[in-house]
Amino acid sequence: MKIGILISGRGSNMAALIDAVGRGAIPSAEVAVVISDKADAVGLAGARERGVEAVVVERRGRTREEHDAELIEVLRKRGVEYVCLAGYMRLLSNDFISAFKDRIINIHPSLLPSFPGLDAQRQALDHGVKVTGCTVHFVDEDLDAGPIILQRVVEVLDDDTVESLSARILEQEHAAYVEAVRLVASSRLRIEGRRTFLIENEAVGESNS
Ligand code: GRF
Repeated sequence: MKIGILISGRGSNMAALIDAVGRGAIPSAEVAVVISDKADAVGLAGARERGVEAVVVERRGRTREEHDAELIEVLRKRGVEYVCLAGYMRLLSNDFISAFKDRIINIHPSLLPSFPGLDAQRQALDHGVKVTGCTVHFVDEDLDAGPIILQRVVEVLDDDTVESLSARILEQEHAAYVEAVRLVASSRLRIEGRRTFLIENEAVGESNS
């Protein structure tokens, strides 16, 4: 399974995925390319240090569709089958979503459907929830709304700040993203409407035979 990762900044989830592939924690997966829409994304160096090709595809005043067409071309040229969004700060066009239908995965720092969009950790603190966490989900046309693969819960502490809460969520994000991509790569996930199910090993064997 060839994976392309889209980033806009720090790239710590990207690094977690590349490192997991490197130590064999996601069998049969390969990270073929990392693409950033920002030339100064810190994650670009992290990808290159790990021996993964890192490409900048900036928007440069083009329409979303034109920008995404270039992304699709870069990904297809490298044989990418699955796209992981890791802090990619742009909305994807419907063209992009159909080009990789049910094969785009995102991570979000809240328990969706609570607190979609920007500043999810601040939203959680402002709302006063006692638990929050992270969600790994397939991407569809709606923001932070596609079928959920898995979630991890993080307790909100009385003295939490956005920074302290974000740091604890991020730790869980790295593990959750690796686990979710491992499930997807194992072909054991079935999407049915809004829900995803884990298929037992035997059923996977049957469907492949
Ligand atoms: C993470 O919190 C992720 O959930 C959100 O953006 C942040 C990206 O962090 N979508 P990083 O670039 O992976 O370090």
